[in-house]
Amino acid sequence: MPLPDDPVAIVTGAARGIGRACAEELAKKGFRVALADLDSDDLDEATQAVGGFGPGALALRGDVADFDQVQVLAGSVAARWGRVDVLVNNAGISQPKNLLEITEAEFDRTIAVNLKGHFNWCKAVAAGMVEQKGGRIINMSSVSAGTGGAPSAVSKFAYAASKAGVQGLTRALAKELAPHVTVNAICPGSIETNLTRALIDARREAITGTIPLARIGTPLDIAVVVAFLATVEPNFITGEIIDVDGGQWVN
Ligand SMILES: NC(=O)c1ccc[n+]([C@@H]2O[C@H](COP(=O)([O-])OP(=O)(O)OC[C@H]3O[C@@H](n4cnc5c(N)ncnc54)[C@H](O)[C@@H]3O)[C@@H](O)[C@H]2O)c1
Repeated sequence: MPLPDDPVAIVTGAARGIGRACAEELAKKGFRVALADLDSDDLDEATQAVGGFGPGALALRGDVADFDQVQVLAGSVAARWGRVDVLVNNAGISQPKNLLEITEAEFDRTIAVNLKGHFNWCKAVAAGMVEQKGGRIINMSSVSAGTGGAPSAVSKFAYAASKAGVQGLTRALAKELAPHVTVNAICPGSIETNLTRALIDARREAITGTIPLARIGTPLDIAVVVAFLATVEPNFITGEIIDVDGGQWVN
């Protein structure tokens, strides 16, 4: 189903980095955008900036890992704007610890934010999308799901497992929510943000040397693909896992 004239998007983890770039791109495409993030000054600043690019912006403060909080936040968007057309499940945390170092609580938190956070938000908006016979869900996985992370990276096994879980969830929900709701995932490669800056700074030349397109990625590189999946008409793409990595993991 085509998007309405005044579409509404929710972007999680939108206070900075990839999520903020996604929120800005969607605003530029005419979306009213709800930016969800943990309470922070960055969220206020991002919401103000996104409001300047499009027809409306709303800050949602809360933890994607908290099921009840997410249902309330989603309800506040529906109450304010009447619908949700696009969900970008982007919030995520790194987990640099090896199996022999990590605690149970650290493992649980990685899964709770990176995987259960996607479930919480999908659960909160999917019924409305099915009912209105239209919706797009775009999840943020990682190339780490396929590579198992890298020895020096912020993305060791728990992170890789959480991001592989996102891929399974994406494929299953693409089937379950069809035919009116599409569900796809993006796998960013090395994108320079707060999450990765220290690692990239320490090995910039070496990392760039592994990327055929010969540069580190930017949040905008991901945001343009998110905006494409959110707006392309007609849309015959669902259940796809799309690498956006400058060719780093071509196989
Ligand atoms: N940067 C990369 O190279 C890269 C590569 C692969 C995948 N990713 C994924 O892309 C997404 C965005 O990453 P980024 O690089 O922009 O990171 P970032 O750290 O710059 O931004 C992440 C945002 O998510 C928010 N967030 C974290 N935990 C949250 C929670 N529990 N509830 C609500 N918000 C929360 C943070 O406050 C922050 O604003 C993540 O899912 C990450 O795993 C990034």
